[in-house]
Amino acid sequence: MMRENRRIVIHRLGESFADCTSIVREDCGEPGPGEVLVRNHYAGINGVYDQMMCLDRVEHATVVPPADTGVEAVGVIEAVGEGVPAARVGETVATVNVGHAYRLWQICAAETALPVEEASPEVLALVPSGVSALLALTKVGNMARGETVLITAAAGGLGNVMTQLALAAGNHVIAVCGGERKAAWLESIGVQRVVNYRQEKLDDVIDSEYRDRLDLVMDSVGGQGFDRLVDNLAPLGRLVVCGYTSDRLPPEQVLAERIYTKLYWKAASIRGFMNYRFAAHAAAARAELFTMRREGRIRPLVDVRRFCGLEDVATAVEYLLSGGNLGKVVVDLRAC
Ligand SMILES: NC(=O)c1ccc[n+]([C@@H]2O[C@H](COP(=O)([O-])OP(=O)(O)OC[C@H]3O[C@@H](n4cnc5c(N)ncnc54)[C@H](OP(=O)(O)O)[C@@H]3O)[C@@H](O)[C@H]2O)c1
Repeated sequence: MMRENRRIVIHRLGESFADCTSIVREDCGEPGPGEVLVRNHYAGINGVYDQMMCLDRVEHATVVPPADTGVEAVGVIEAVGEGVPAARVGETVATVNVGHAYRLWQICAAETALPVEEASPEVLALVPSGVSALLALTKVGNMARGETVLITAAAGGLGNVMTQLALAAGNHVIAVCGGERKAAWLESIGVQRVVNYRQEKLDDVIDSEYRDRLDLVMDSVGGQGFDRLVDNLAPLGRLVVCGYTSDRLPPEQVLAERIYTKLYWKAASIRGFMNYRFAAHAAAARAELFTMRREGRIRPLVDVRRFCGLEDVATAVEYLLSGGNLGKVVVDLRAC
C-alpha cells in the first residue's frame, strides 16, 4: 500500500533549526525482515540537542546534510516485516532512535519498538527523559535519602522528573527555575526550596542557606552558575553534568581553572551523564518509572502548549530554547 511519509531533514548546518531544516516527502516503504512500520503519533522535542545537531556539535553523531532529525516518538505499529509476529500490528510503542522521530512514519528494528501502555504525551515524557532522569540520579549521582539535592532547570523535560524522583526518595530539594509558573508548579509538588532566579539570586540563596552543603547537584544549565555550584559542594558531594543549555553555543564561558583544588579537600566529584552510555539499565529504569506512575508516585509533566504537525516542530524547538516551557515539549503528529 502506498503511504506518503514526510520527514524533517537538516539540509545545511547553522544555528537556527527553522532555517537549517526542511520537510521531505516520500513513500514510507515497507518493513524488511525483523523490522516494523510505526505511525508516529507524538514526537518529543529536544531543542538543545536539535540545535547542536544543526551545528554538528553532538560528539557521538557526525551530521552530514541531508540528515534525519528527532529522537523519541510514541505511536502504533501498522505493519511488520518477515520474522516479526503479526500480533504486533496495533501495538502501542515508544521508540528512541536518532533521526526517526520528526517524521510521520518510521521503519525501525522490531526490538527498538518498545511496547507501552498507551501512545500518549505522558509516556513520551518518561521515555527517554524520565529514564535519563532516573539513571542520572541513581547510576551517576548515587542518590541517597535525606541529602540536599539541587536541580537546575527543575521544571523542564528532564528536570521535572528528576525533581519528583529526588523528592520521592526523601531528599531536601532545591529546585532552580526561571519564571513564576514554573515556581508555582514546583511548590505545588512539595519542593522544600524553590529558587526562581528571575526573582532572587541563586548565589545569595546558596551563600545564606546552603554554603558548602550541596550533597548532590544535577546541573543541565552550565555557564557561570556551574562554578558556584562546584564551590558549594558538601564534603563527598557530587555534581552531575547532565547538559550545558546556557553554554551550548560557542564560545564556551566556563572558567574552571584549577578545579582540582575545589574538589580535593572535600573529596567531592564532578561526573558526567550521557543516557546512551547507560543503555543496559534503561529497561529496568522504564519499568520502575511506569510502576511509580501507575502508583501515582510520579506524574510526568507535559507542557500545555499544543504543537501540531511536522510544520510546528521548528516552533516547538524555538519555544523550548526560549526557556518558556513547563515540562516536556511534545508535538502531535496525527492529523490535527
Ligand atoms: N545527558 C543526557 O543524556 C541528557 C538527556 C536529556 C537531556 N539532556 C540535556 O538536559 C538539558 C535539558 O533538556 P530538556 O530537553 O529537558 O530541556 P528543558 O529543561 O525542558 O528546557 C530547557 C530549560 O533550560 C533552562 N535554561 C537555562 N538557561 C537557559 C538558556 N540560556 N537558554 C535556554 N534555556 C535555558 C530553561 O528553564 P529555566 O529558565 O527554568 O532554568 C529551559 O526551560 C539539555 O541541555 C539537554 O541537552 C541531557
